[in-house]
Amino acid sequence: MRLRVFVLISLSCLAQAISPNLLRLGPQGVNLWKLEQLHASPKPALFVQDASEINHLEHTVIKPEFTALWFEQPLDHFDKSINDTFLQRYWINTRHYKPGTGAPVIILDGGETSGEDRIPFLDTGIVEILARATNGVGVVLEHRYYGESIATKNLTTDSLSANFMANVQFPGIDENLTAPGTIWIYYGGSYAGARAAHMRVLYPELVYGAIASSAVTHAAIINWEYMDIIRRYADPVCSEHLQKSIETIDSILDHRILSTPLKALFGVHGLKSDTDFVSLIESPLGAWQAKVWDPAVGSPTFDNFCAALSKPVGRKTADVMSLEFGHPKRMISLPGGLKVDLAIVNYGAWIKEHIVSRCPEGSTQEECFGTYDDTQYQGTSLKEIWRLWLFQVCTEWGYFTTAPPDPTHPRIISKRLDLEYESKICRQAYAPGIHFTVPPLPNVTVVNELGDFDIAMDRLAIIDGEVDPWRPDTPHSDYAKDREDTILRPFKIIPNGVHHYDEYGLKNLEDEPPEIRKIHEEMIAFVKEWLKDWKVSRDLEEGK
Ligand SMILES: *[C@@H]1O[C@H](CO)[C@@H](O)[C@H](O)[C@H]1NC(C)=O
Ligand SMILES: *[C@@H]1O[C@H](CO)[C@@H](O)[C@H](O)[C@H]1NC(C)=O
Ligand SMILES: *[C@@H]1O[C@H](CO)[C@@H](O)[C@H](O)[C@H]1NC(C)=O
Ligand SMILES: *[C@@H]1O[C@H](CO)[C@@H](O)[C@H](O)[C@H]1NC(C)=O
Repeated sequence: MRLRVFVLISLSCLAQAISPNLLRLGPQGVNLWKLEQLHASPKPALFVQDASEINHLEHTVIKPEFTALWFEQPLDHFDKSINDTFLQRYWINTRHYKPGTGAPVIILDGGETSGEDRIPFLDTGIVEILARATNGVGVVLEHRYYGESIATKNLTTDSLSANFMANVQFPGIDENLTAPGTIWIYYGGSYAGARAAHMRVLYPELVYGAIASSAVTHAAIINWEYMDIIRRYADPVCSEHLQKSIETIDSILDHRILSTPLKALFGVHGLKSDTDFVSLIESPLGAWQAKVWDPAVGSPTFDNFCAALSKPVGRKTADVMSLEFGHPKRMISLPGGLKVDLAIVNYGAWIKEHIVSRCPEGSTQEECFGTYDDTQYQGTSLKEIWRLWLFQVCTEWGYFTTAPPDPTHPRIISKRLDLEYESKICRQAYAPGIHFTVPPLPNVTVVNELGDFDIAMDRLAIIDGEVDPWRPDTPHSDYAKDREDTILRPFKIIPNGVHHYDEYGLKNLEDEPPEIRKIHEEMIAFVKEWLKDWKVSRDLEEGK
């Protein structure tokens, strides 16, 4: 008999989560985010699960071991005459902590999402792995404004993390573990990875060591390289079919006559703008970065999409599939005189089924997928959490994902996706305020002057994924100088790795795939070496 278990999970926290990954949020991205929220029920729901499926839920159910703790922060860090404070949320893992051993604190920066999304890293991921190896205390610190650490005034700086490290008293721990008296190792992945690198540079006395994984230390206004990584590393047949589909779609749109039947093929004959149309059909590509080596947390969407592109259609059989794109036997005639390769027919069917179907009854396609009505981006309630990361994008980080500026460069997104289109959301969503006006384009110098591709320091580890679409913005970019990989300055690439693959872990390292187990063992090794250096420098100070 199969054991049936009832599990109650609150979906409200899931709905809060933007995504565990750095998002590309163009105007269409915001539309799709909103539709996703509609489908994530805001009310707690009762699920019936087989015990065999329970592991898949583990990452969404918060174990009682990790209850939220709160640290009081000053609201305005620089103006001492303002006494207001807000509470910043954090969680700790003390399973492996051995008092009195000089054990470190391993802190994970929550980055641009609710800190709850990061709890798996405290439980089985990188924080647990390093805390276990060093008898340390693990911490996840929620980023100000995200999740529940919402202060009502404006953003200041990374100094909040510094204040936390220098002053926190962990409940249940008597030892004074504040920095700089205790070793703090600062970990971050993605945007938080850039923060980890910046923290090591800005607060060297508090941050003894830092690990910057998939760290986007290079801010860029145009980020066309993101899609180019996907083009270069996706399954070659899929990549070629995407490229040729997009070429075909662009030329059909150029000639206008057949653009309505083309849009109809994708289920959006009612969408006015061609650019809105091509940005809509770009959306499955965003699933590439959601791949994770652990199938319990990774998204299969990209691979499913690729597989769907080469499905037989109608009376076309499997042997037709191996013919070249555009071969007469692969062509399908459609109403309105349109005749296209079956990859495009499959592409249309996929978009219709997985994206267009999200548009609720009673809304027009224009309301769901149009991006030219400014008012749809002007809601400012605290529910509109897409505004948070987008604000950072519009002021300092950029990363507008456009087609390659060189028109002859191969591409898997439409040439119509240009900077004007991708960045118009900044002007639509942030009307000039009394105190602050979002600049016409982000000032990426603010980020890049902290080190950019060349950011380096002793005990700052740089870890990246070979096929991470964000790699072009990290010190492992093809534009960056090569470096040596040393214990003091680790510089490691995970073969076939996507976005911060080292952040995820399994309870037993032996169960991890070889490349992941290898990087984890290397990380444990260099952190342990760093800890030895601390002992040497302290012994020297104490005259031993
Ligand atoms: C802040 O607190 C200090 C001492 O606690 C007090 O003297 C001062 O008036 C307070 N300032 C404001 C603006 O409330
Ligand atoms: C942020 O808030 C402070 C008051 O706490 C204000 O003086 C400052 O002008 C604000 N800055 C921005 C960029 O809004
Ligand atoms: C912890 O130690 C630091 C010196 O490393 C000291 O400044 C701080 O006051 C101590 N905190 C507590 C609560 O004892
Ligand atoms: C951009 O930021 C840099 C560094 O903070 C600053 O020096 C520069 O004046 C800013 N540029 C503009 C146009 O605001």
